[in-house]
Amino acid sequence: MCGIVGYNGKNKAVDILLDGLSKLEYRGYDSSGVAIKNEKIDVIKAKGKLTNLKEKIANMELNGTCGIGHTRWATHGEPSENNAHPHTSNDGSVVLVHNGIIENYQELIDKLEKHKYKFYSETDTEVLANIIDYYYKKYQMGPMDAINRTMVRVRGSYAIAVMFKDHPDDLWVARKDSPMIIGLNNDGAYVASDVPAILKYTRNVYYIDNMETACLKKNKVIFYDLNGDVIKKELKEIKWDISLAEKGGYEHFMIKEINEQPEVVRKTINSLLNEDNIDLSKTGLTIEEIRSFKQIYIVACGSAYHVGVCAQYILEDLARIPVRVDTASEFRYRNPILDKKGLVIIISQSGETADSLAALREAKKQGIKTLGIINVVGSSIAREADHVLYTLAGPEIAVATTKAFSTQLIAMYAIAIQFAKVKRKLNNKDYAKLIDDLKLLPDNISVILKDKQEDIQRLSSQFPNLQDAFYIGRGLDYAISLEGSLKLKEVSYVHSEAYPAGELKHGTISLIEDGTLVIGIATQDKVFEKTLSNLVEVKSRGGYIVSIVSKNAKVDKVSDFIIEVPKTNKYFYPSLTVVPLQLIGYYITVSKGLDVDKPRNLAKSVTVE
Ligand code: F6R
Repeated sequence: MCGIVGYNGKNKAVDILLDGLSKLEYRGYDSSGVAIKNEKIDVIKAKGKLTNLKEKIANMELNGTCGIGHTRWATHGEPSENNAHPHTSNDGSVVLVHNGIIENYQELIDKLEKHKYKFYSETDTEVLANIIDYYYKKYQMGPMDAINRTMVRVRGSYAIAVMFKDHPDDLWVARKDSPMIIGLNNDGAYVASDVPAILKYTRNVYYIDNMETACLKKNKVIFYDLNGDVIKKELKEIKWDISLAEKGGYEHFMIKEINEQPEVVRKTINSLLNEDNIDLSKTGLTIEEIRSFKQIYIVACGSAYHVGVCAQYILEDLARIPVRVDTASEFRYRNPILDKKGLVIIISQSGETADSLAALREAKKQGIKTLGIINVVGSSIAREADHVLYTLAGPEIAVATTKAFSTQLIAMYAIAIQFAKVKRKLNNKDYAKLIDDLKLLPDNISVILKDKQEDIQRLSSQFPNLQDAFYIGRGLDYAISLEGSLKLKEVSYVHSEAYPAGELKHGTISLIEDGTLVIGIATQDKVFEKTLSNLVEVKSRGGYIVSIVSKNAKVDKVSDFIIEVPKTNKYFYPSLTVVPLQLIGYYITVSKGLDVDKPRNLAKSVTVE
């Protein structure tokens, strides 16, 4: 989705803005632009890649030390230079960039047209520049008042960075339901929609809340609430390692992040253990609370939802507590009936996914306790949930999630084990064994990465013209096949489907013909024979079968290619089987020569519905 960067300080703004925008490219965009305060406010925009903007700027004298930049992912209006941000009010008094969607933009345009405002773009953003300008001139009470009045008038979600021609030394920002952080160091103040854009300059950031405004001066930041009263905020330190946001010699972020999994999984496990006991105390969840929950609802989107599907199997089997999993976009509109003694768990890497945030708010509205499993510290869901468990994946840059997914699984294992213990469904011996197996997972993942990567690369290179693939499994193997299928389709554009193996016969098997790729996952002893029979049925119809199984499983007769993963506890196989699945998605995409880190039409953090 769109990205925002802004700077007001001692140094040349254009360099900082372009550098910041390049760090946001991964979010997906189709045009970009900057506005720099020089003699006047210069606005430069370009369609397409950031290099087009850089080429335009190369021979320009842009020495100003205050400016804003934007990468746009088109929602209202086609990708074009005209629709690119920054947008300017009619007489150039107000220049701004915006992330999010203004829902009542047409109503505002109608209002402003009555006041002789004209519009040059198809965006919902241009109206913001003009409505701020309108209030600024009408009430003559300065930028903060104009922005605050605008916030009350507009509906939708937004993070905005605004420059006023009459106030050349200040940069103004505001937000509602769209991410934004503000950084500060001795060289100035920075604003960005996402941490990697400013991590190189400062780790000290402020979190601006919904319906707040801030003025970025060259040496400080002043925050205001909707009444115009000053709010005091503390700087917080971001602990992310900057090298995690760089490619570090890998060809793509996706493969780098796949290979970072042993390390981030280990970190996340360690953060949840205290002397070989699960310790959820940092989340604020007490033993009494855990004991009181009678029902769990897991709500998330995309891959995070798949973590929820895995967790449902584990929590119900291990802790014997009923679980319902929902995609957030369904949950938020289906008027769910929630047990007051329930817990709603929202899983989200970014902590900003619009549907997941709305689902969290729906749960809170119904008075249900909420827990966020979140990667980005200080994100909206992290701030609004009653309890937060932070995964320690660090910055994830590739659009397709890999390492964050793996840390989310760990978080859910820890919750399942702890709930089982508190609810007395687990004896001490089994508990200790689960913890031992959990601690071995990072090494097990390393073994797969070391031993299987080349084989999987070779396998994947056989399918440059692949059209369809099917992923099948039962129980947890089905849950993880959902993720394998998404990993393939979202980056390689190959149509793929995940099916419970037992469901094939009810329709899908008619699609299997000579050479159809079927990836069968069979790690669960209880249903191993059943899945094997399903694979035999596929084989006899000509399917090309890749089996992902635990060591020494007997699948030779049915398989065209076997990927063995180390043995582990039955609940933890998703952490191992997902690795070859990610590698298959990655290498098939690479063999097709596609942009694996930035698949078409996708954005890293989906902050609009
Ligand atoms: C797929 C992927 C998406 C995200 C989904 C939720 O590879 O990355 O499906 O999992 O958009 O995002 P978060 O976790 O940020 O809420």
